[in-house]
Amino acid sequence: MSEVSETKRKDGAGRVALVSGASSGIGKAFAHILACNGFDLVLTARREQQLRALAQDLEATFATKTHVMRADLTDPTAPRRLFDDIAAADLHVDVLVNNAGYGMPGFFNDTAWDSHRDYLQVMAIAPVHLAYLAAPAMVERGYGRIVNVGSVSGLLPPHAGGTLYYPVKSFLIKFSLAHGEELRRAGVHVTALCPGFTRTNFQQASGGSVEAVTMPGFMWMDADVVAAKGYRAVMRGDPVCVPGWANRALVGLFKYLPEGIGRWIIRATGKPTD
Ligand SMILES: NC(=O)c1ccc[n+]([C@@H]2O[C@H](COP(=O)([O-])OP(=O)(O)OC[C@H]3O[C@@H](n4cnc5c(N)ncnc54)[C@H](OP(=O)(O)O)[C@@H]3O)[C@@H](O)[C@H]2O)c1
Repeated sequence: MSEVSETKRKDGAGRVALVSGASSGIGKAFAHILACNGFDLVLTARREQQLRALAQDLEATFATKTHVMRADLTDPTAPRRLFDDIAAADLHVDVLVNNAGYGMPGFFNDTAWDSHRDYLQVMAIAPVHLAYLAAPAMVERGYGRIVNVGSVSGLLPPHAGGTLYYPVKSFLIKFSLAHGEELRRAGVHVTALCPGFTRTNFQQASGGSVEAVTMPGFMWMDADVVAAKGYRAVMRGDPVCVPGWANRALVGLFKYLPEGIGRWIIRATGKPTD
């Protein structure tokens, strides 16, 4: 039985999931798994056409109710407006998947400040703001699931050129752990999902390509497998999920290496993971 079909249960009957970055990759895969498990969906991203096509597909396949709400998360008002629109549609959020994100190539001081500001908005402030808006009603209902999509990068020493990516992913992981501790007794699970290399649009969106990444095949995972593992982890209440044995081995190795040696390895080998 595949990772995806294994999750075929109806956890979500009568419940609603909000997925950011649902127009492709891991977010789109999450939307499929949530719909398959009976959740109604609010899908958000900038590319409305892709969201509408996904909504049609999910409604036809799983008879799920799907709402498309376009938002650009570089806009600091977007999370508040999303929650206002959700309330206006008479919906509530039982599951939040904070997934939208991208990589930014280039060295820190070679990049315009406005790009860094937008990056921090999308990668750090927006997910924290969405969690801030979602959690109180989850606590009130005694049920909630929040997935913050971090990265294996957030658990490794940083490399030059990943100057904001590694730190924002570390931040998101620590935020998940702390927020999860606060919500634990209220029936709300928070999971930091930390994928490694995953076949999505991520590399193209960051100005590269999957083919250009010189990593052995076993380091790569499919988005539906990553999302299925994240889904199972948050339903179980696991605080951190590192999908894939190769990623877990990498994280384990760097955890036990002296910090200086870890940093030397990263410097010597270049970029080890996404
Ligand atoms: N792929 C990997 O190797 C990998 C590894 C570790 C972690 N991750 C993380 O996984 C998450 C999902 O990435 P992915 O791999 O699935 O890449 P992807 O296929 O490029 O998907 C990224 C999603 O984020 C959305 N997004 C980007 N900028 C946005 C903005 N300003 N406002 C709203 N939505 C925005 C995109 O939608 P629109 O373009 O339509 O707005 C898209 O739906 C990211 O947080 C990434 O850091 C990926």
